[in-house]
Amino acid sequence: MYSKSNFSPNTQYFLDLENKYGAHNYHPLPVVLKKGAGVFLWDVDDKRYYDFLSGYSAVNHGHCHPKIIEALQSQAEILTLTSRAFHNNLLGEYEQYITQYFGYDKVLPMNTGVEGGETAIKLARKWGYEVKGIESNKAKILFAEGNFWGRTMAAISSSTDPSSYTNFGPYMPGFEVIPYNDLIALEKSFQDKNVAAFMFEPIQGEAGIIIPDEGYLTGIRELCSKYNVLMIADEIQTGLARTGKMLACDYENVKPDILILGKALSGGTLPISAVLCNDEIMLTIKPGEHGSTYGGNPLACKVAITSLQILKEEKLSENAAAMGILFREGIEKINSPLISCVRGRGLLNAIVISHQNTDAAWDLCLLLKENGLLAKPTHGDKIRFAPPLIINEIQIKDCISIIEKTLPTLQS
Ligand SMILES: Cc1ncc(COP(=O)(O)O)c(C=O)c1O
Repeated sequence: MYSKSNFSPNTQYFLDLENKYGAHNYHPLPVVLKKGAGVFLWDVDDKRYYDFLSGYSAVNHGHCHPKIIEALQSQAEILTLTSRAFHNNLLGEYEQYITQYFGYDKVLPMNTGVEGGETAIKLARKWGYEVKGIESNKAKILFAEGNFWGRTMAAISSSTDPSSYTNFGPYMPGFEVIPYNDLIALEKSFQDKNVAAFMFEPIQGEAGIIIPDEGYLTGIRELCSKYNVLMIADEIQTGLARTGKMLACDYENVKPDILILGKALSGGTLPISAVLCNDEIMLTIKPGEHGSTYGGNPLACKVAITSLQILKEEKLSENAAAMGILFREGIEKINSPLISCVRGRGLLNAIVISHQNTDAAWDLCLLLKENGLLAKPTHGDKIRFAPPLIINEIQIKDCISIIEKTLPTLQS
């Protein structure tokens, strides 16, 4: 792992513990965090950092947002889980709130994002057979190259990333992958009558904040309507104000047939995901055909309502849009040969590192950590910068200076 001398005994203790007893399925930055508040995190040695990952965009509201924590604590003392064997007094209220918020007939509550993706695919297949009239077991779901929606068997079966799928086969049938940001390829694939849905991210997050050309989302909408194929938008990372609009699809004013949300639906407190669509799709699933013990639990319902309320109350989309512009302008001004590009929308941004050393992005993240900013590379040479959406101008400028002063130390 890491050389012993690099870390304080305190930090080393926790690194060793995880290394010894935990599965080695992640490669975290060597920092051990113990506290979070707003845009900041503290490690076990009390060093403070700006959080520029936000729990992979789950902590949009900032760490331990007082209203979310209040909702969590107060509801935890009353009722946490009933299962869906019984009704509870918050589920209906939450369902009404979130469907009206996003303008859909119904919601299906789940927990993790990947379960949201699985749910959307099940809905699309069911709709494909029972509404569109696809022959039994012939339904196809299309995905885009570079997609990431988790690591279940279905998710890796649609992945084009060898580290996701290698040696985990056999894979789920009925999936096809087409290039991202390519409407011609999409229309060509739609000639196949067995295609039930196209599932995509409006901005590809894990792939390195890949923003499609303007008109791509509108094109998907038009083609899906023309060929009677469901448009499934995975807004688990891009949604809930992250990109400077409530949904990234709002940039082109398009409404997907199925919308998947997760991550920030709980402001980083619980795994809460949601799949939204209209009755024609949602009502194809009947009792017993889908569900989850924790999906729709009262604690999650209370937390999700509160998280959604805060996004509007605190105008987090507007702040993300404004701070995102400030951030990208600031990074562009640094004008370092080490940054070949900065891109993003709102506060979902990435820089691409240009360096002969393939570990340069990782090394830069280690240096940034020393200077009090936590970020993580994605796909080798890219570093995602996604702070909580409550970040203010002074803090953004402070972070730009941290990045500016850190870059030359990588060079040397
Ligand atoms: C776009 C997208 N979809 C789905 C997921 C999976 O979410 P979860 O890790 O909560 O299962 C992720 C996770 O990063 C994601 O970025």
